[in-house]
Amino acid sequence: MTMRLFPAGRPAVCLAPMAGFSDRTFRILCREKGADLVFSEMISAKGLLYGSDKTRALYFTREGDEPFSVQLFGSEPETVARAVRILENDLGKKLLSIDLNMGCPAPKIASNGDGCALMLDPALAGRIVAAAVGTAHVPISVKFRKGWDAAHENAVEFARVCQESGAAFLTIHGRTREQMYAGKADRACMAAVKRAVGIPVIANGDVHDAKSALDVLRETGCDGVMIGRGALGNPFVFEEVRCALEGRVYTPPDWDERRETALRHAQMALYEKGDHAIVELRKHLAFYLRGAKDAAKLRTRVNACKTLEELRQIWG
Ligand SMILES: Cc1cc2nc3c(=O)[nH]c(=O)nc-3n(C[C@H](O)[C@H](O)[C@H](O)COP(=O)(O)O)c2cc1C
Repeated sequence: MTMRLFPAGRPAVCLAPMAGFSDRTFRILCREKGADLVFSEMISAKGLLYGSDKTRALYFTREGDEPFSVQLFGSEPETVARAVRILENDLGKKLLSIDLNMGCPAPKIASNGDGCALMLDPALAGRIVAAAVGTAHVPISVKFRKGWDAAHENAVEFARVCQESGAAFLTIHGRTREQMYAGKADRACMAAVKRAVGIPVIANGDVHDAKSALDVLRETGCDGVMIGRGALGNPFVFEEVRCALEGRVYTPPDWDERRETALRHAQMALYEKGDHAIVELRKHLAFYLRGAKDAAKLRTRVNACKTLEELRQIWG
């Protein structure tokens, strides 16, 4: 079932689900630059059931989308199963796979028993995976962490439960919930998860260029890498990693190309969501501006823009 998801003959390169960032525009750009699999930002299973417009807007697109993977969060097996059916109904062939978020550390998610809190209850997590797999026509994957905290590092046991419950592949972020994003992602933990299961495992955490991708793949034996923060303002990272994996020479973009990509990102996002989206676009633009000459000054001016035309005048 995972055959059509993963490229043949080389590890997969994936865009991470990132709330507030991995929207349709960013997914399309990252695909263009070489990402094999792209994941939506996390979507509430309950929100889907309640038919919230805000929730639907996170995955529903005005036009045809490249096939993509949607990430769901929820902690009730039946709710998740019903959300899976809604997604399949709404998205049809655009839906490549569904990922279950069992790694989110955010207090508002974990304190409800969702996200990484499920790592404290592997049996419930297994029932959720089984319920999703039981109803889905697309592969179901799980993204999780090293554990809840230093006293509860159960990634290996958790991975086995997910596999036994029918998960098609796994993504392991090598940090505990307690660590949030601090410290280094633990590659030994990723390697242990890979050794423990027979399904594909994607390594996640601190991959931001070709070297870190090749290093993590070599050290863990994983079947792919997932890139989050390293892709912000830098969708070129997918091309960089693909070149390294395929033995091609990578030519980094110059500032003109970076600016062109940022402006195209803006154009696509505003077309998709309307002019008001310029506010939420600012955080993406700030990442594109990192390292630019006079970045701070330019950022202040970019943040004052209300339309694409103004943006082009200032930054074009
Ligand atoms: C702004 C932001 C939003 C995120 N949202 C999600 C999310 O919706 N679902 C999820 O599973 N992980 C989410 N993550 C975690 C990332 O997917 C990833 O696991 C983490 O950033 C580590 O990878 P990296 O070092 O490549 O960034 C988010 C991370 C960031 C920085």
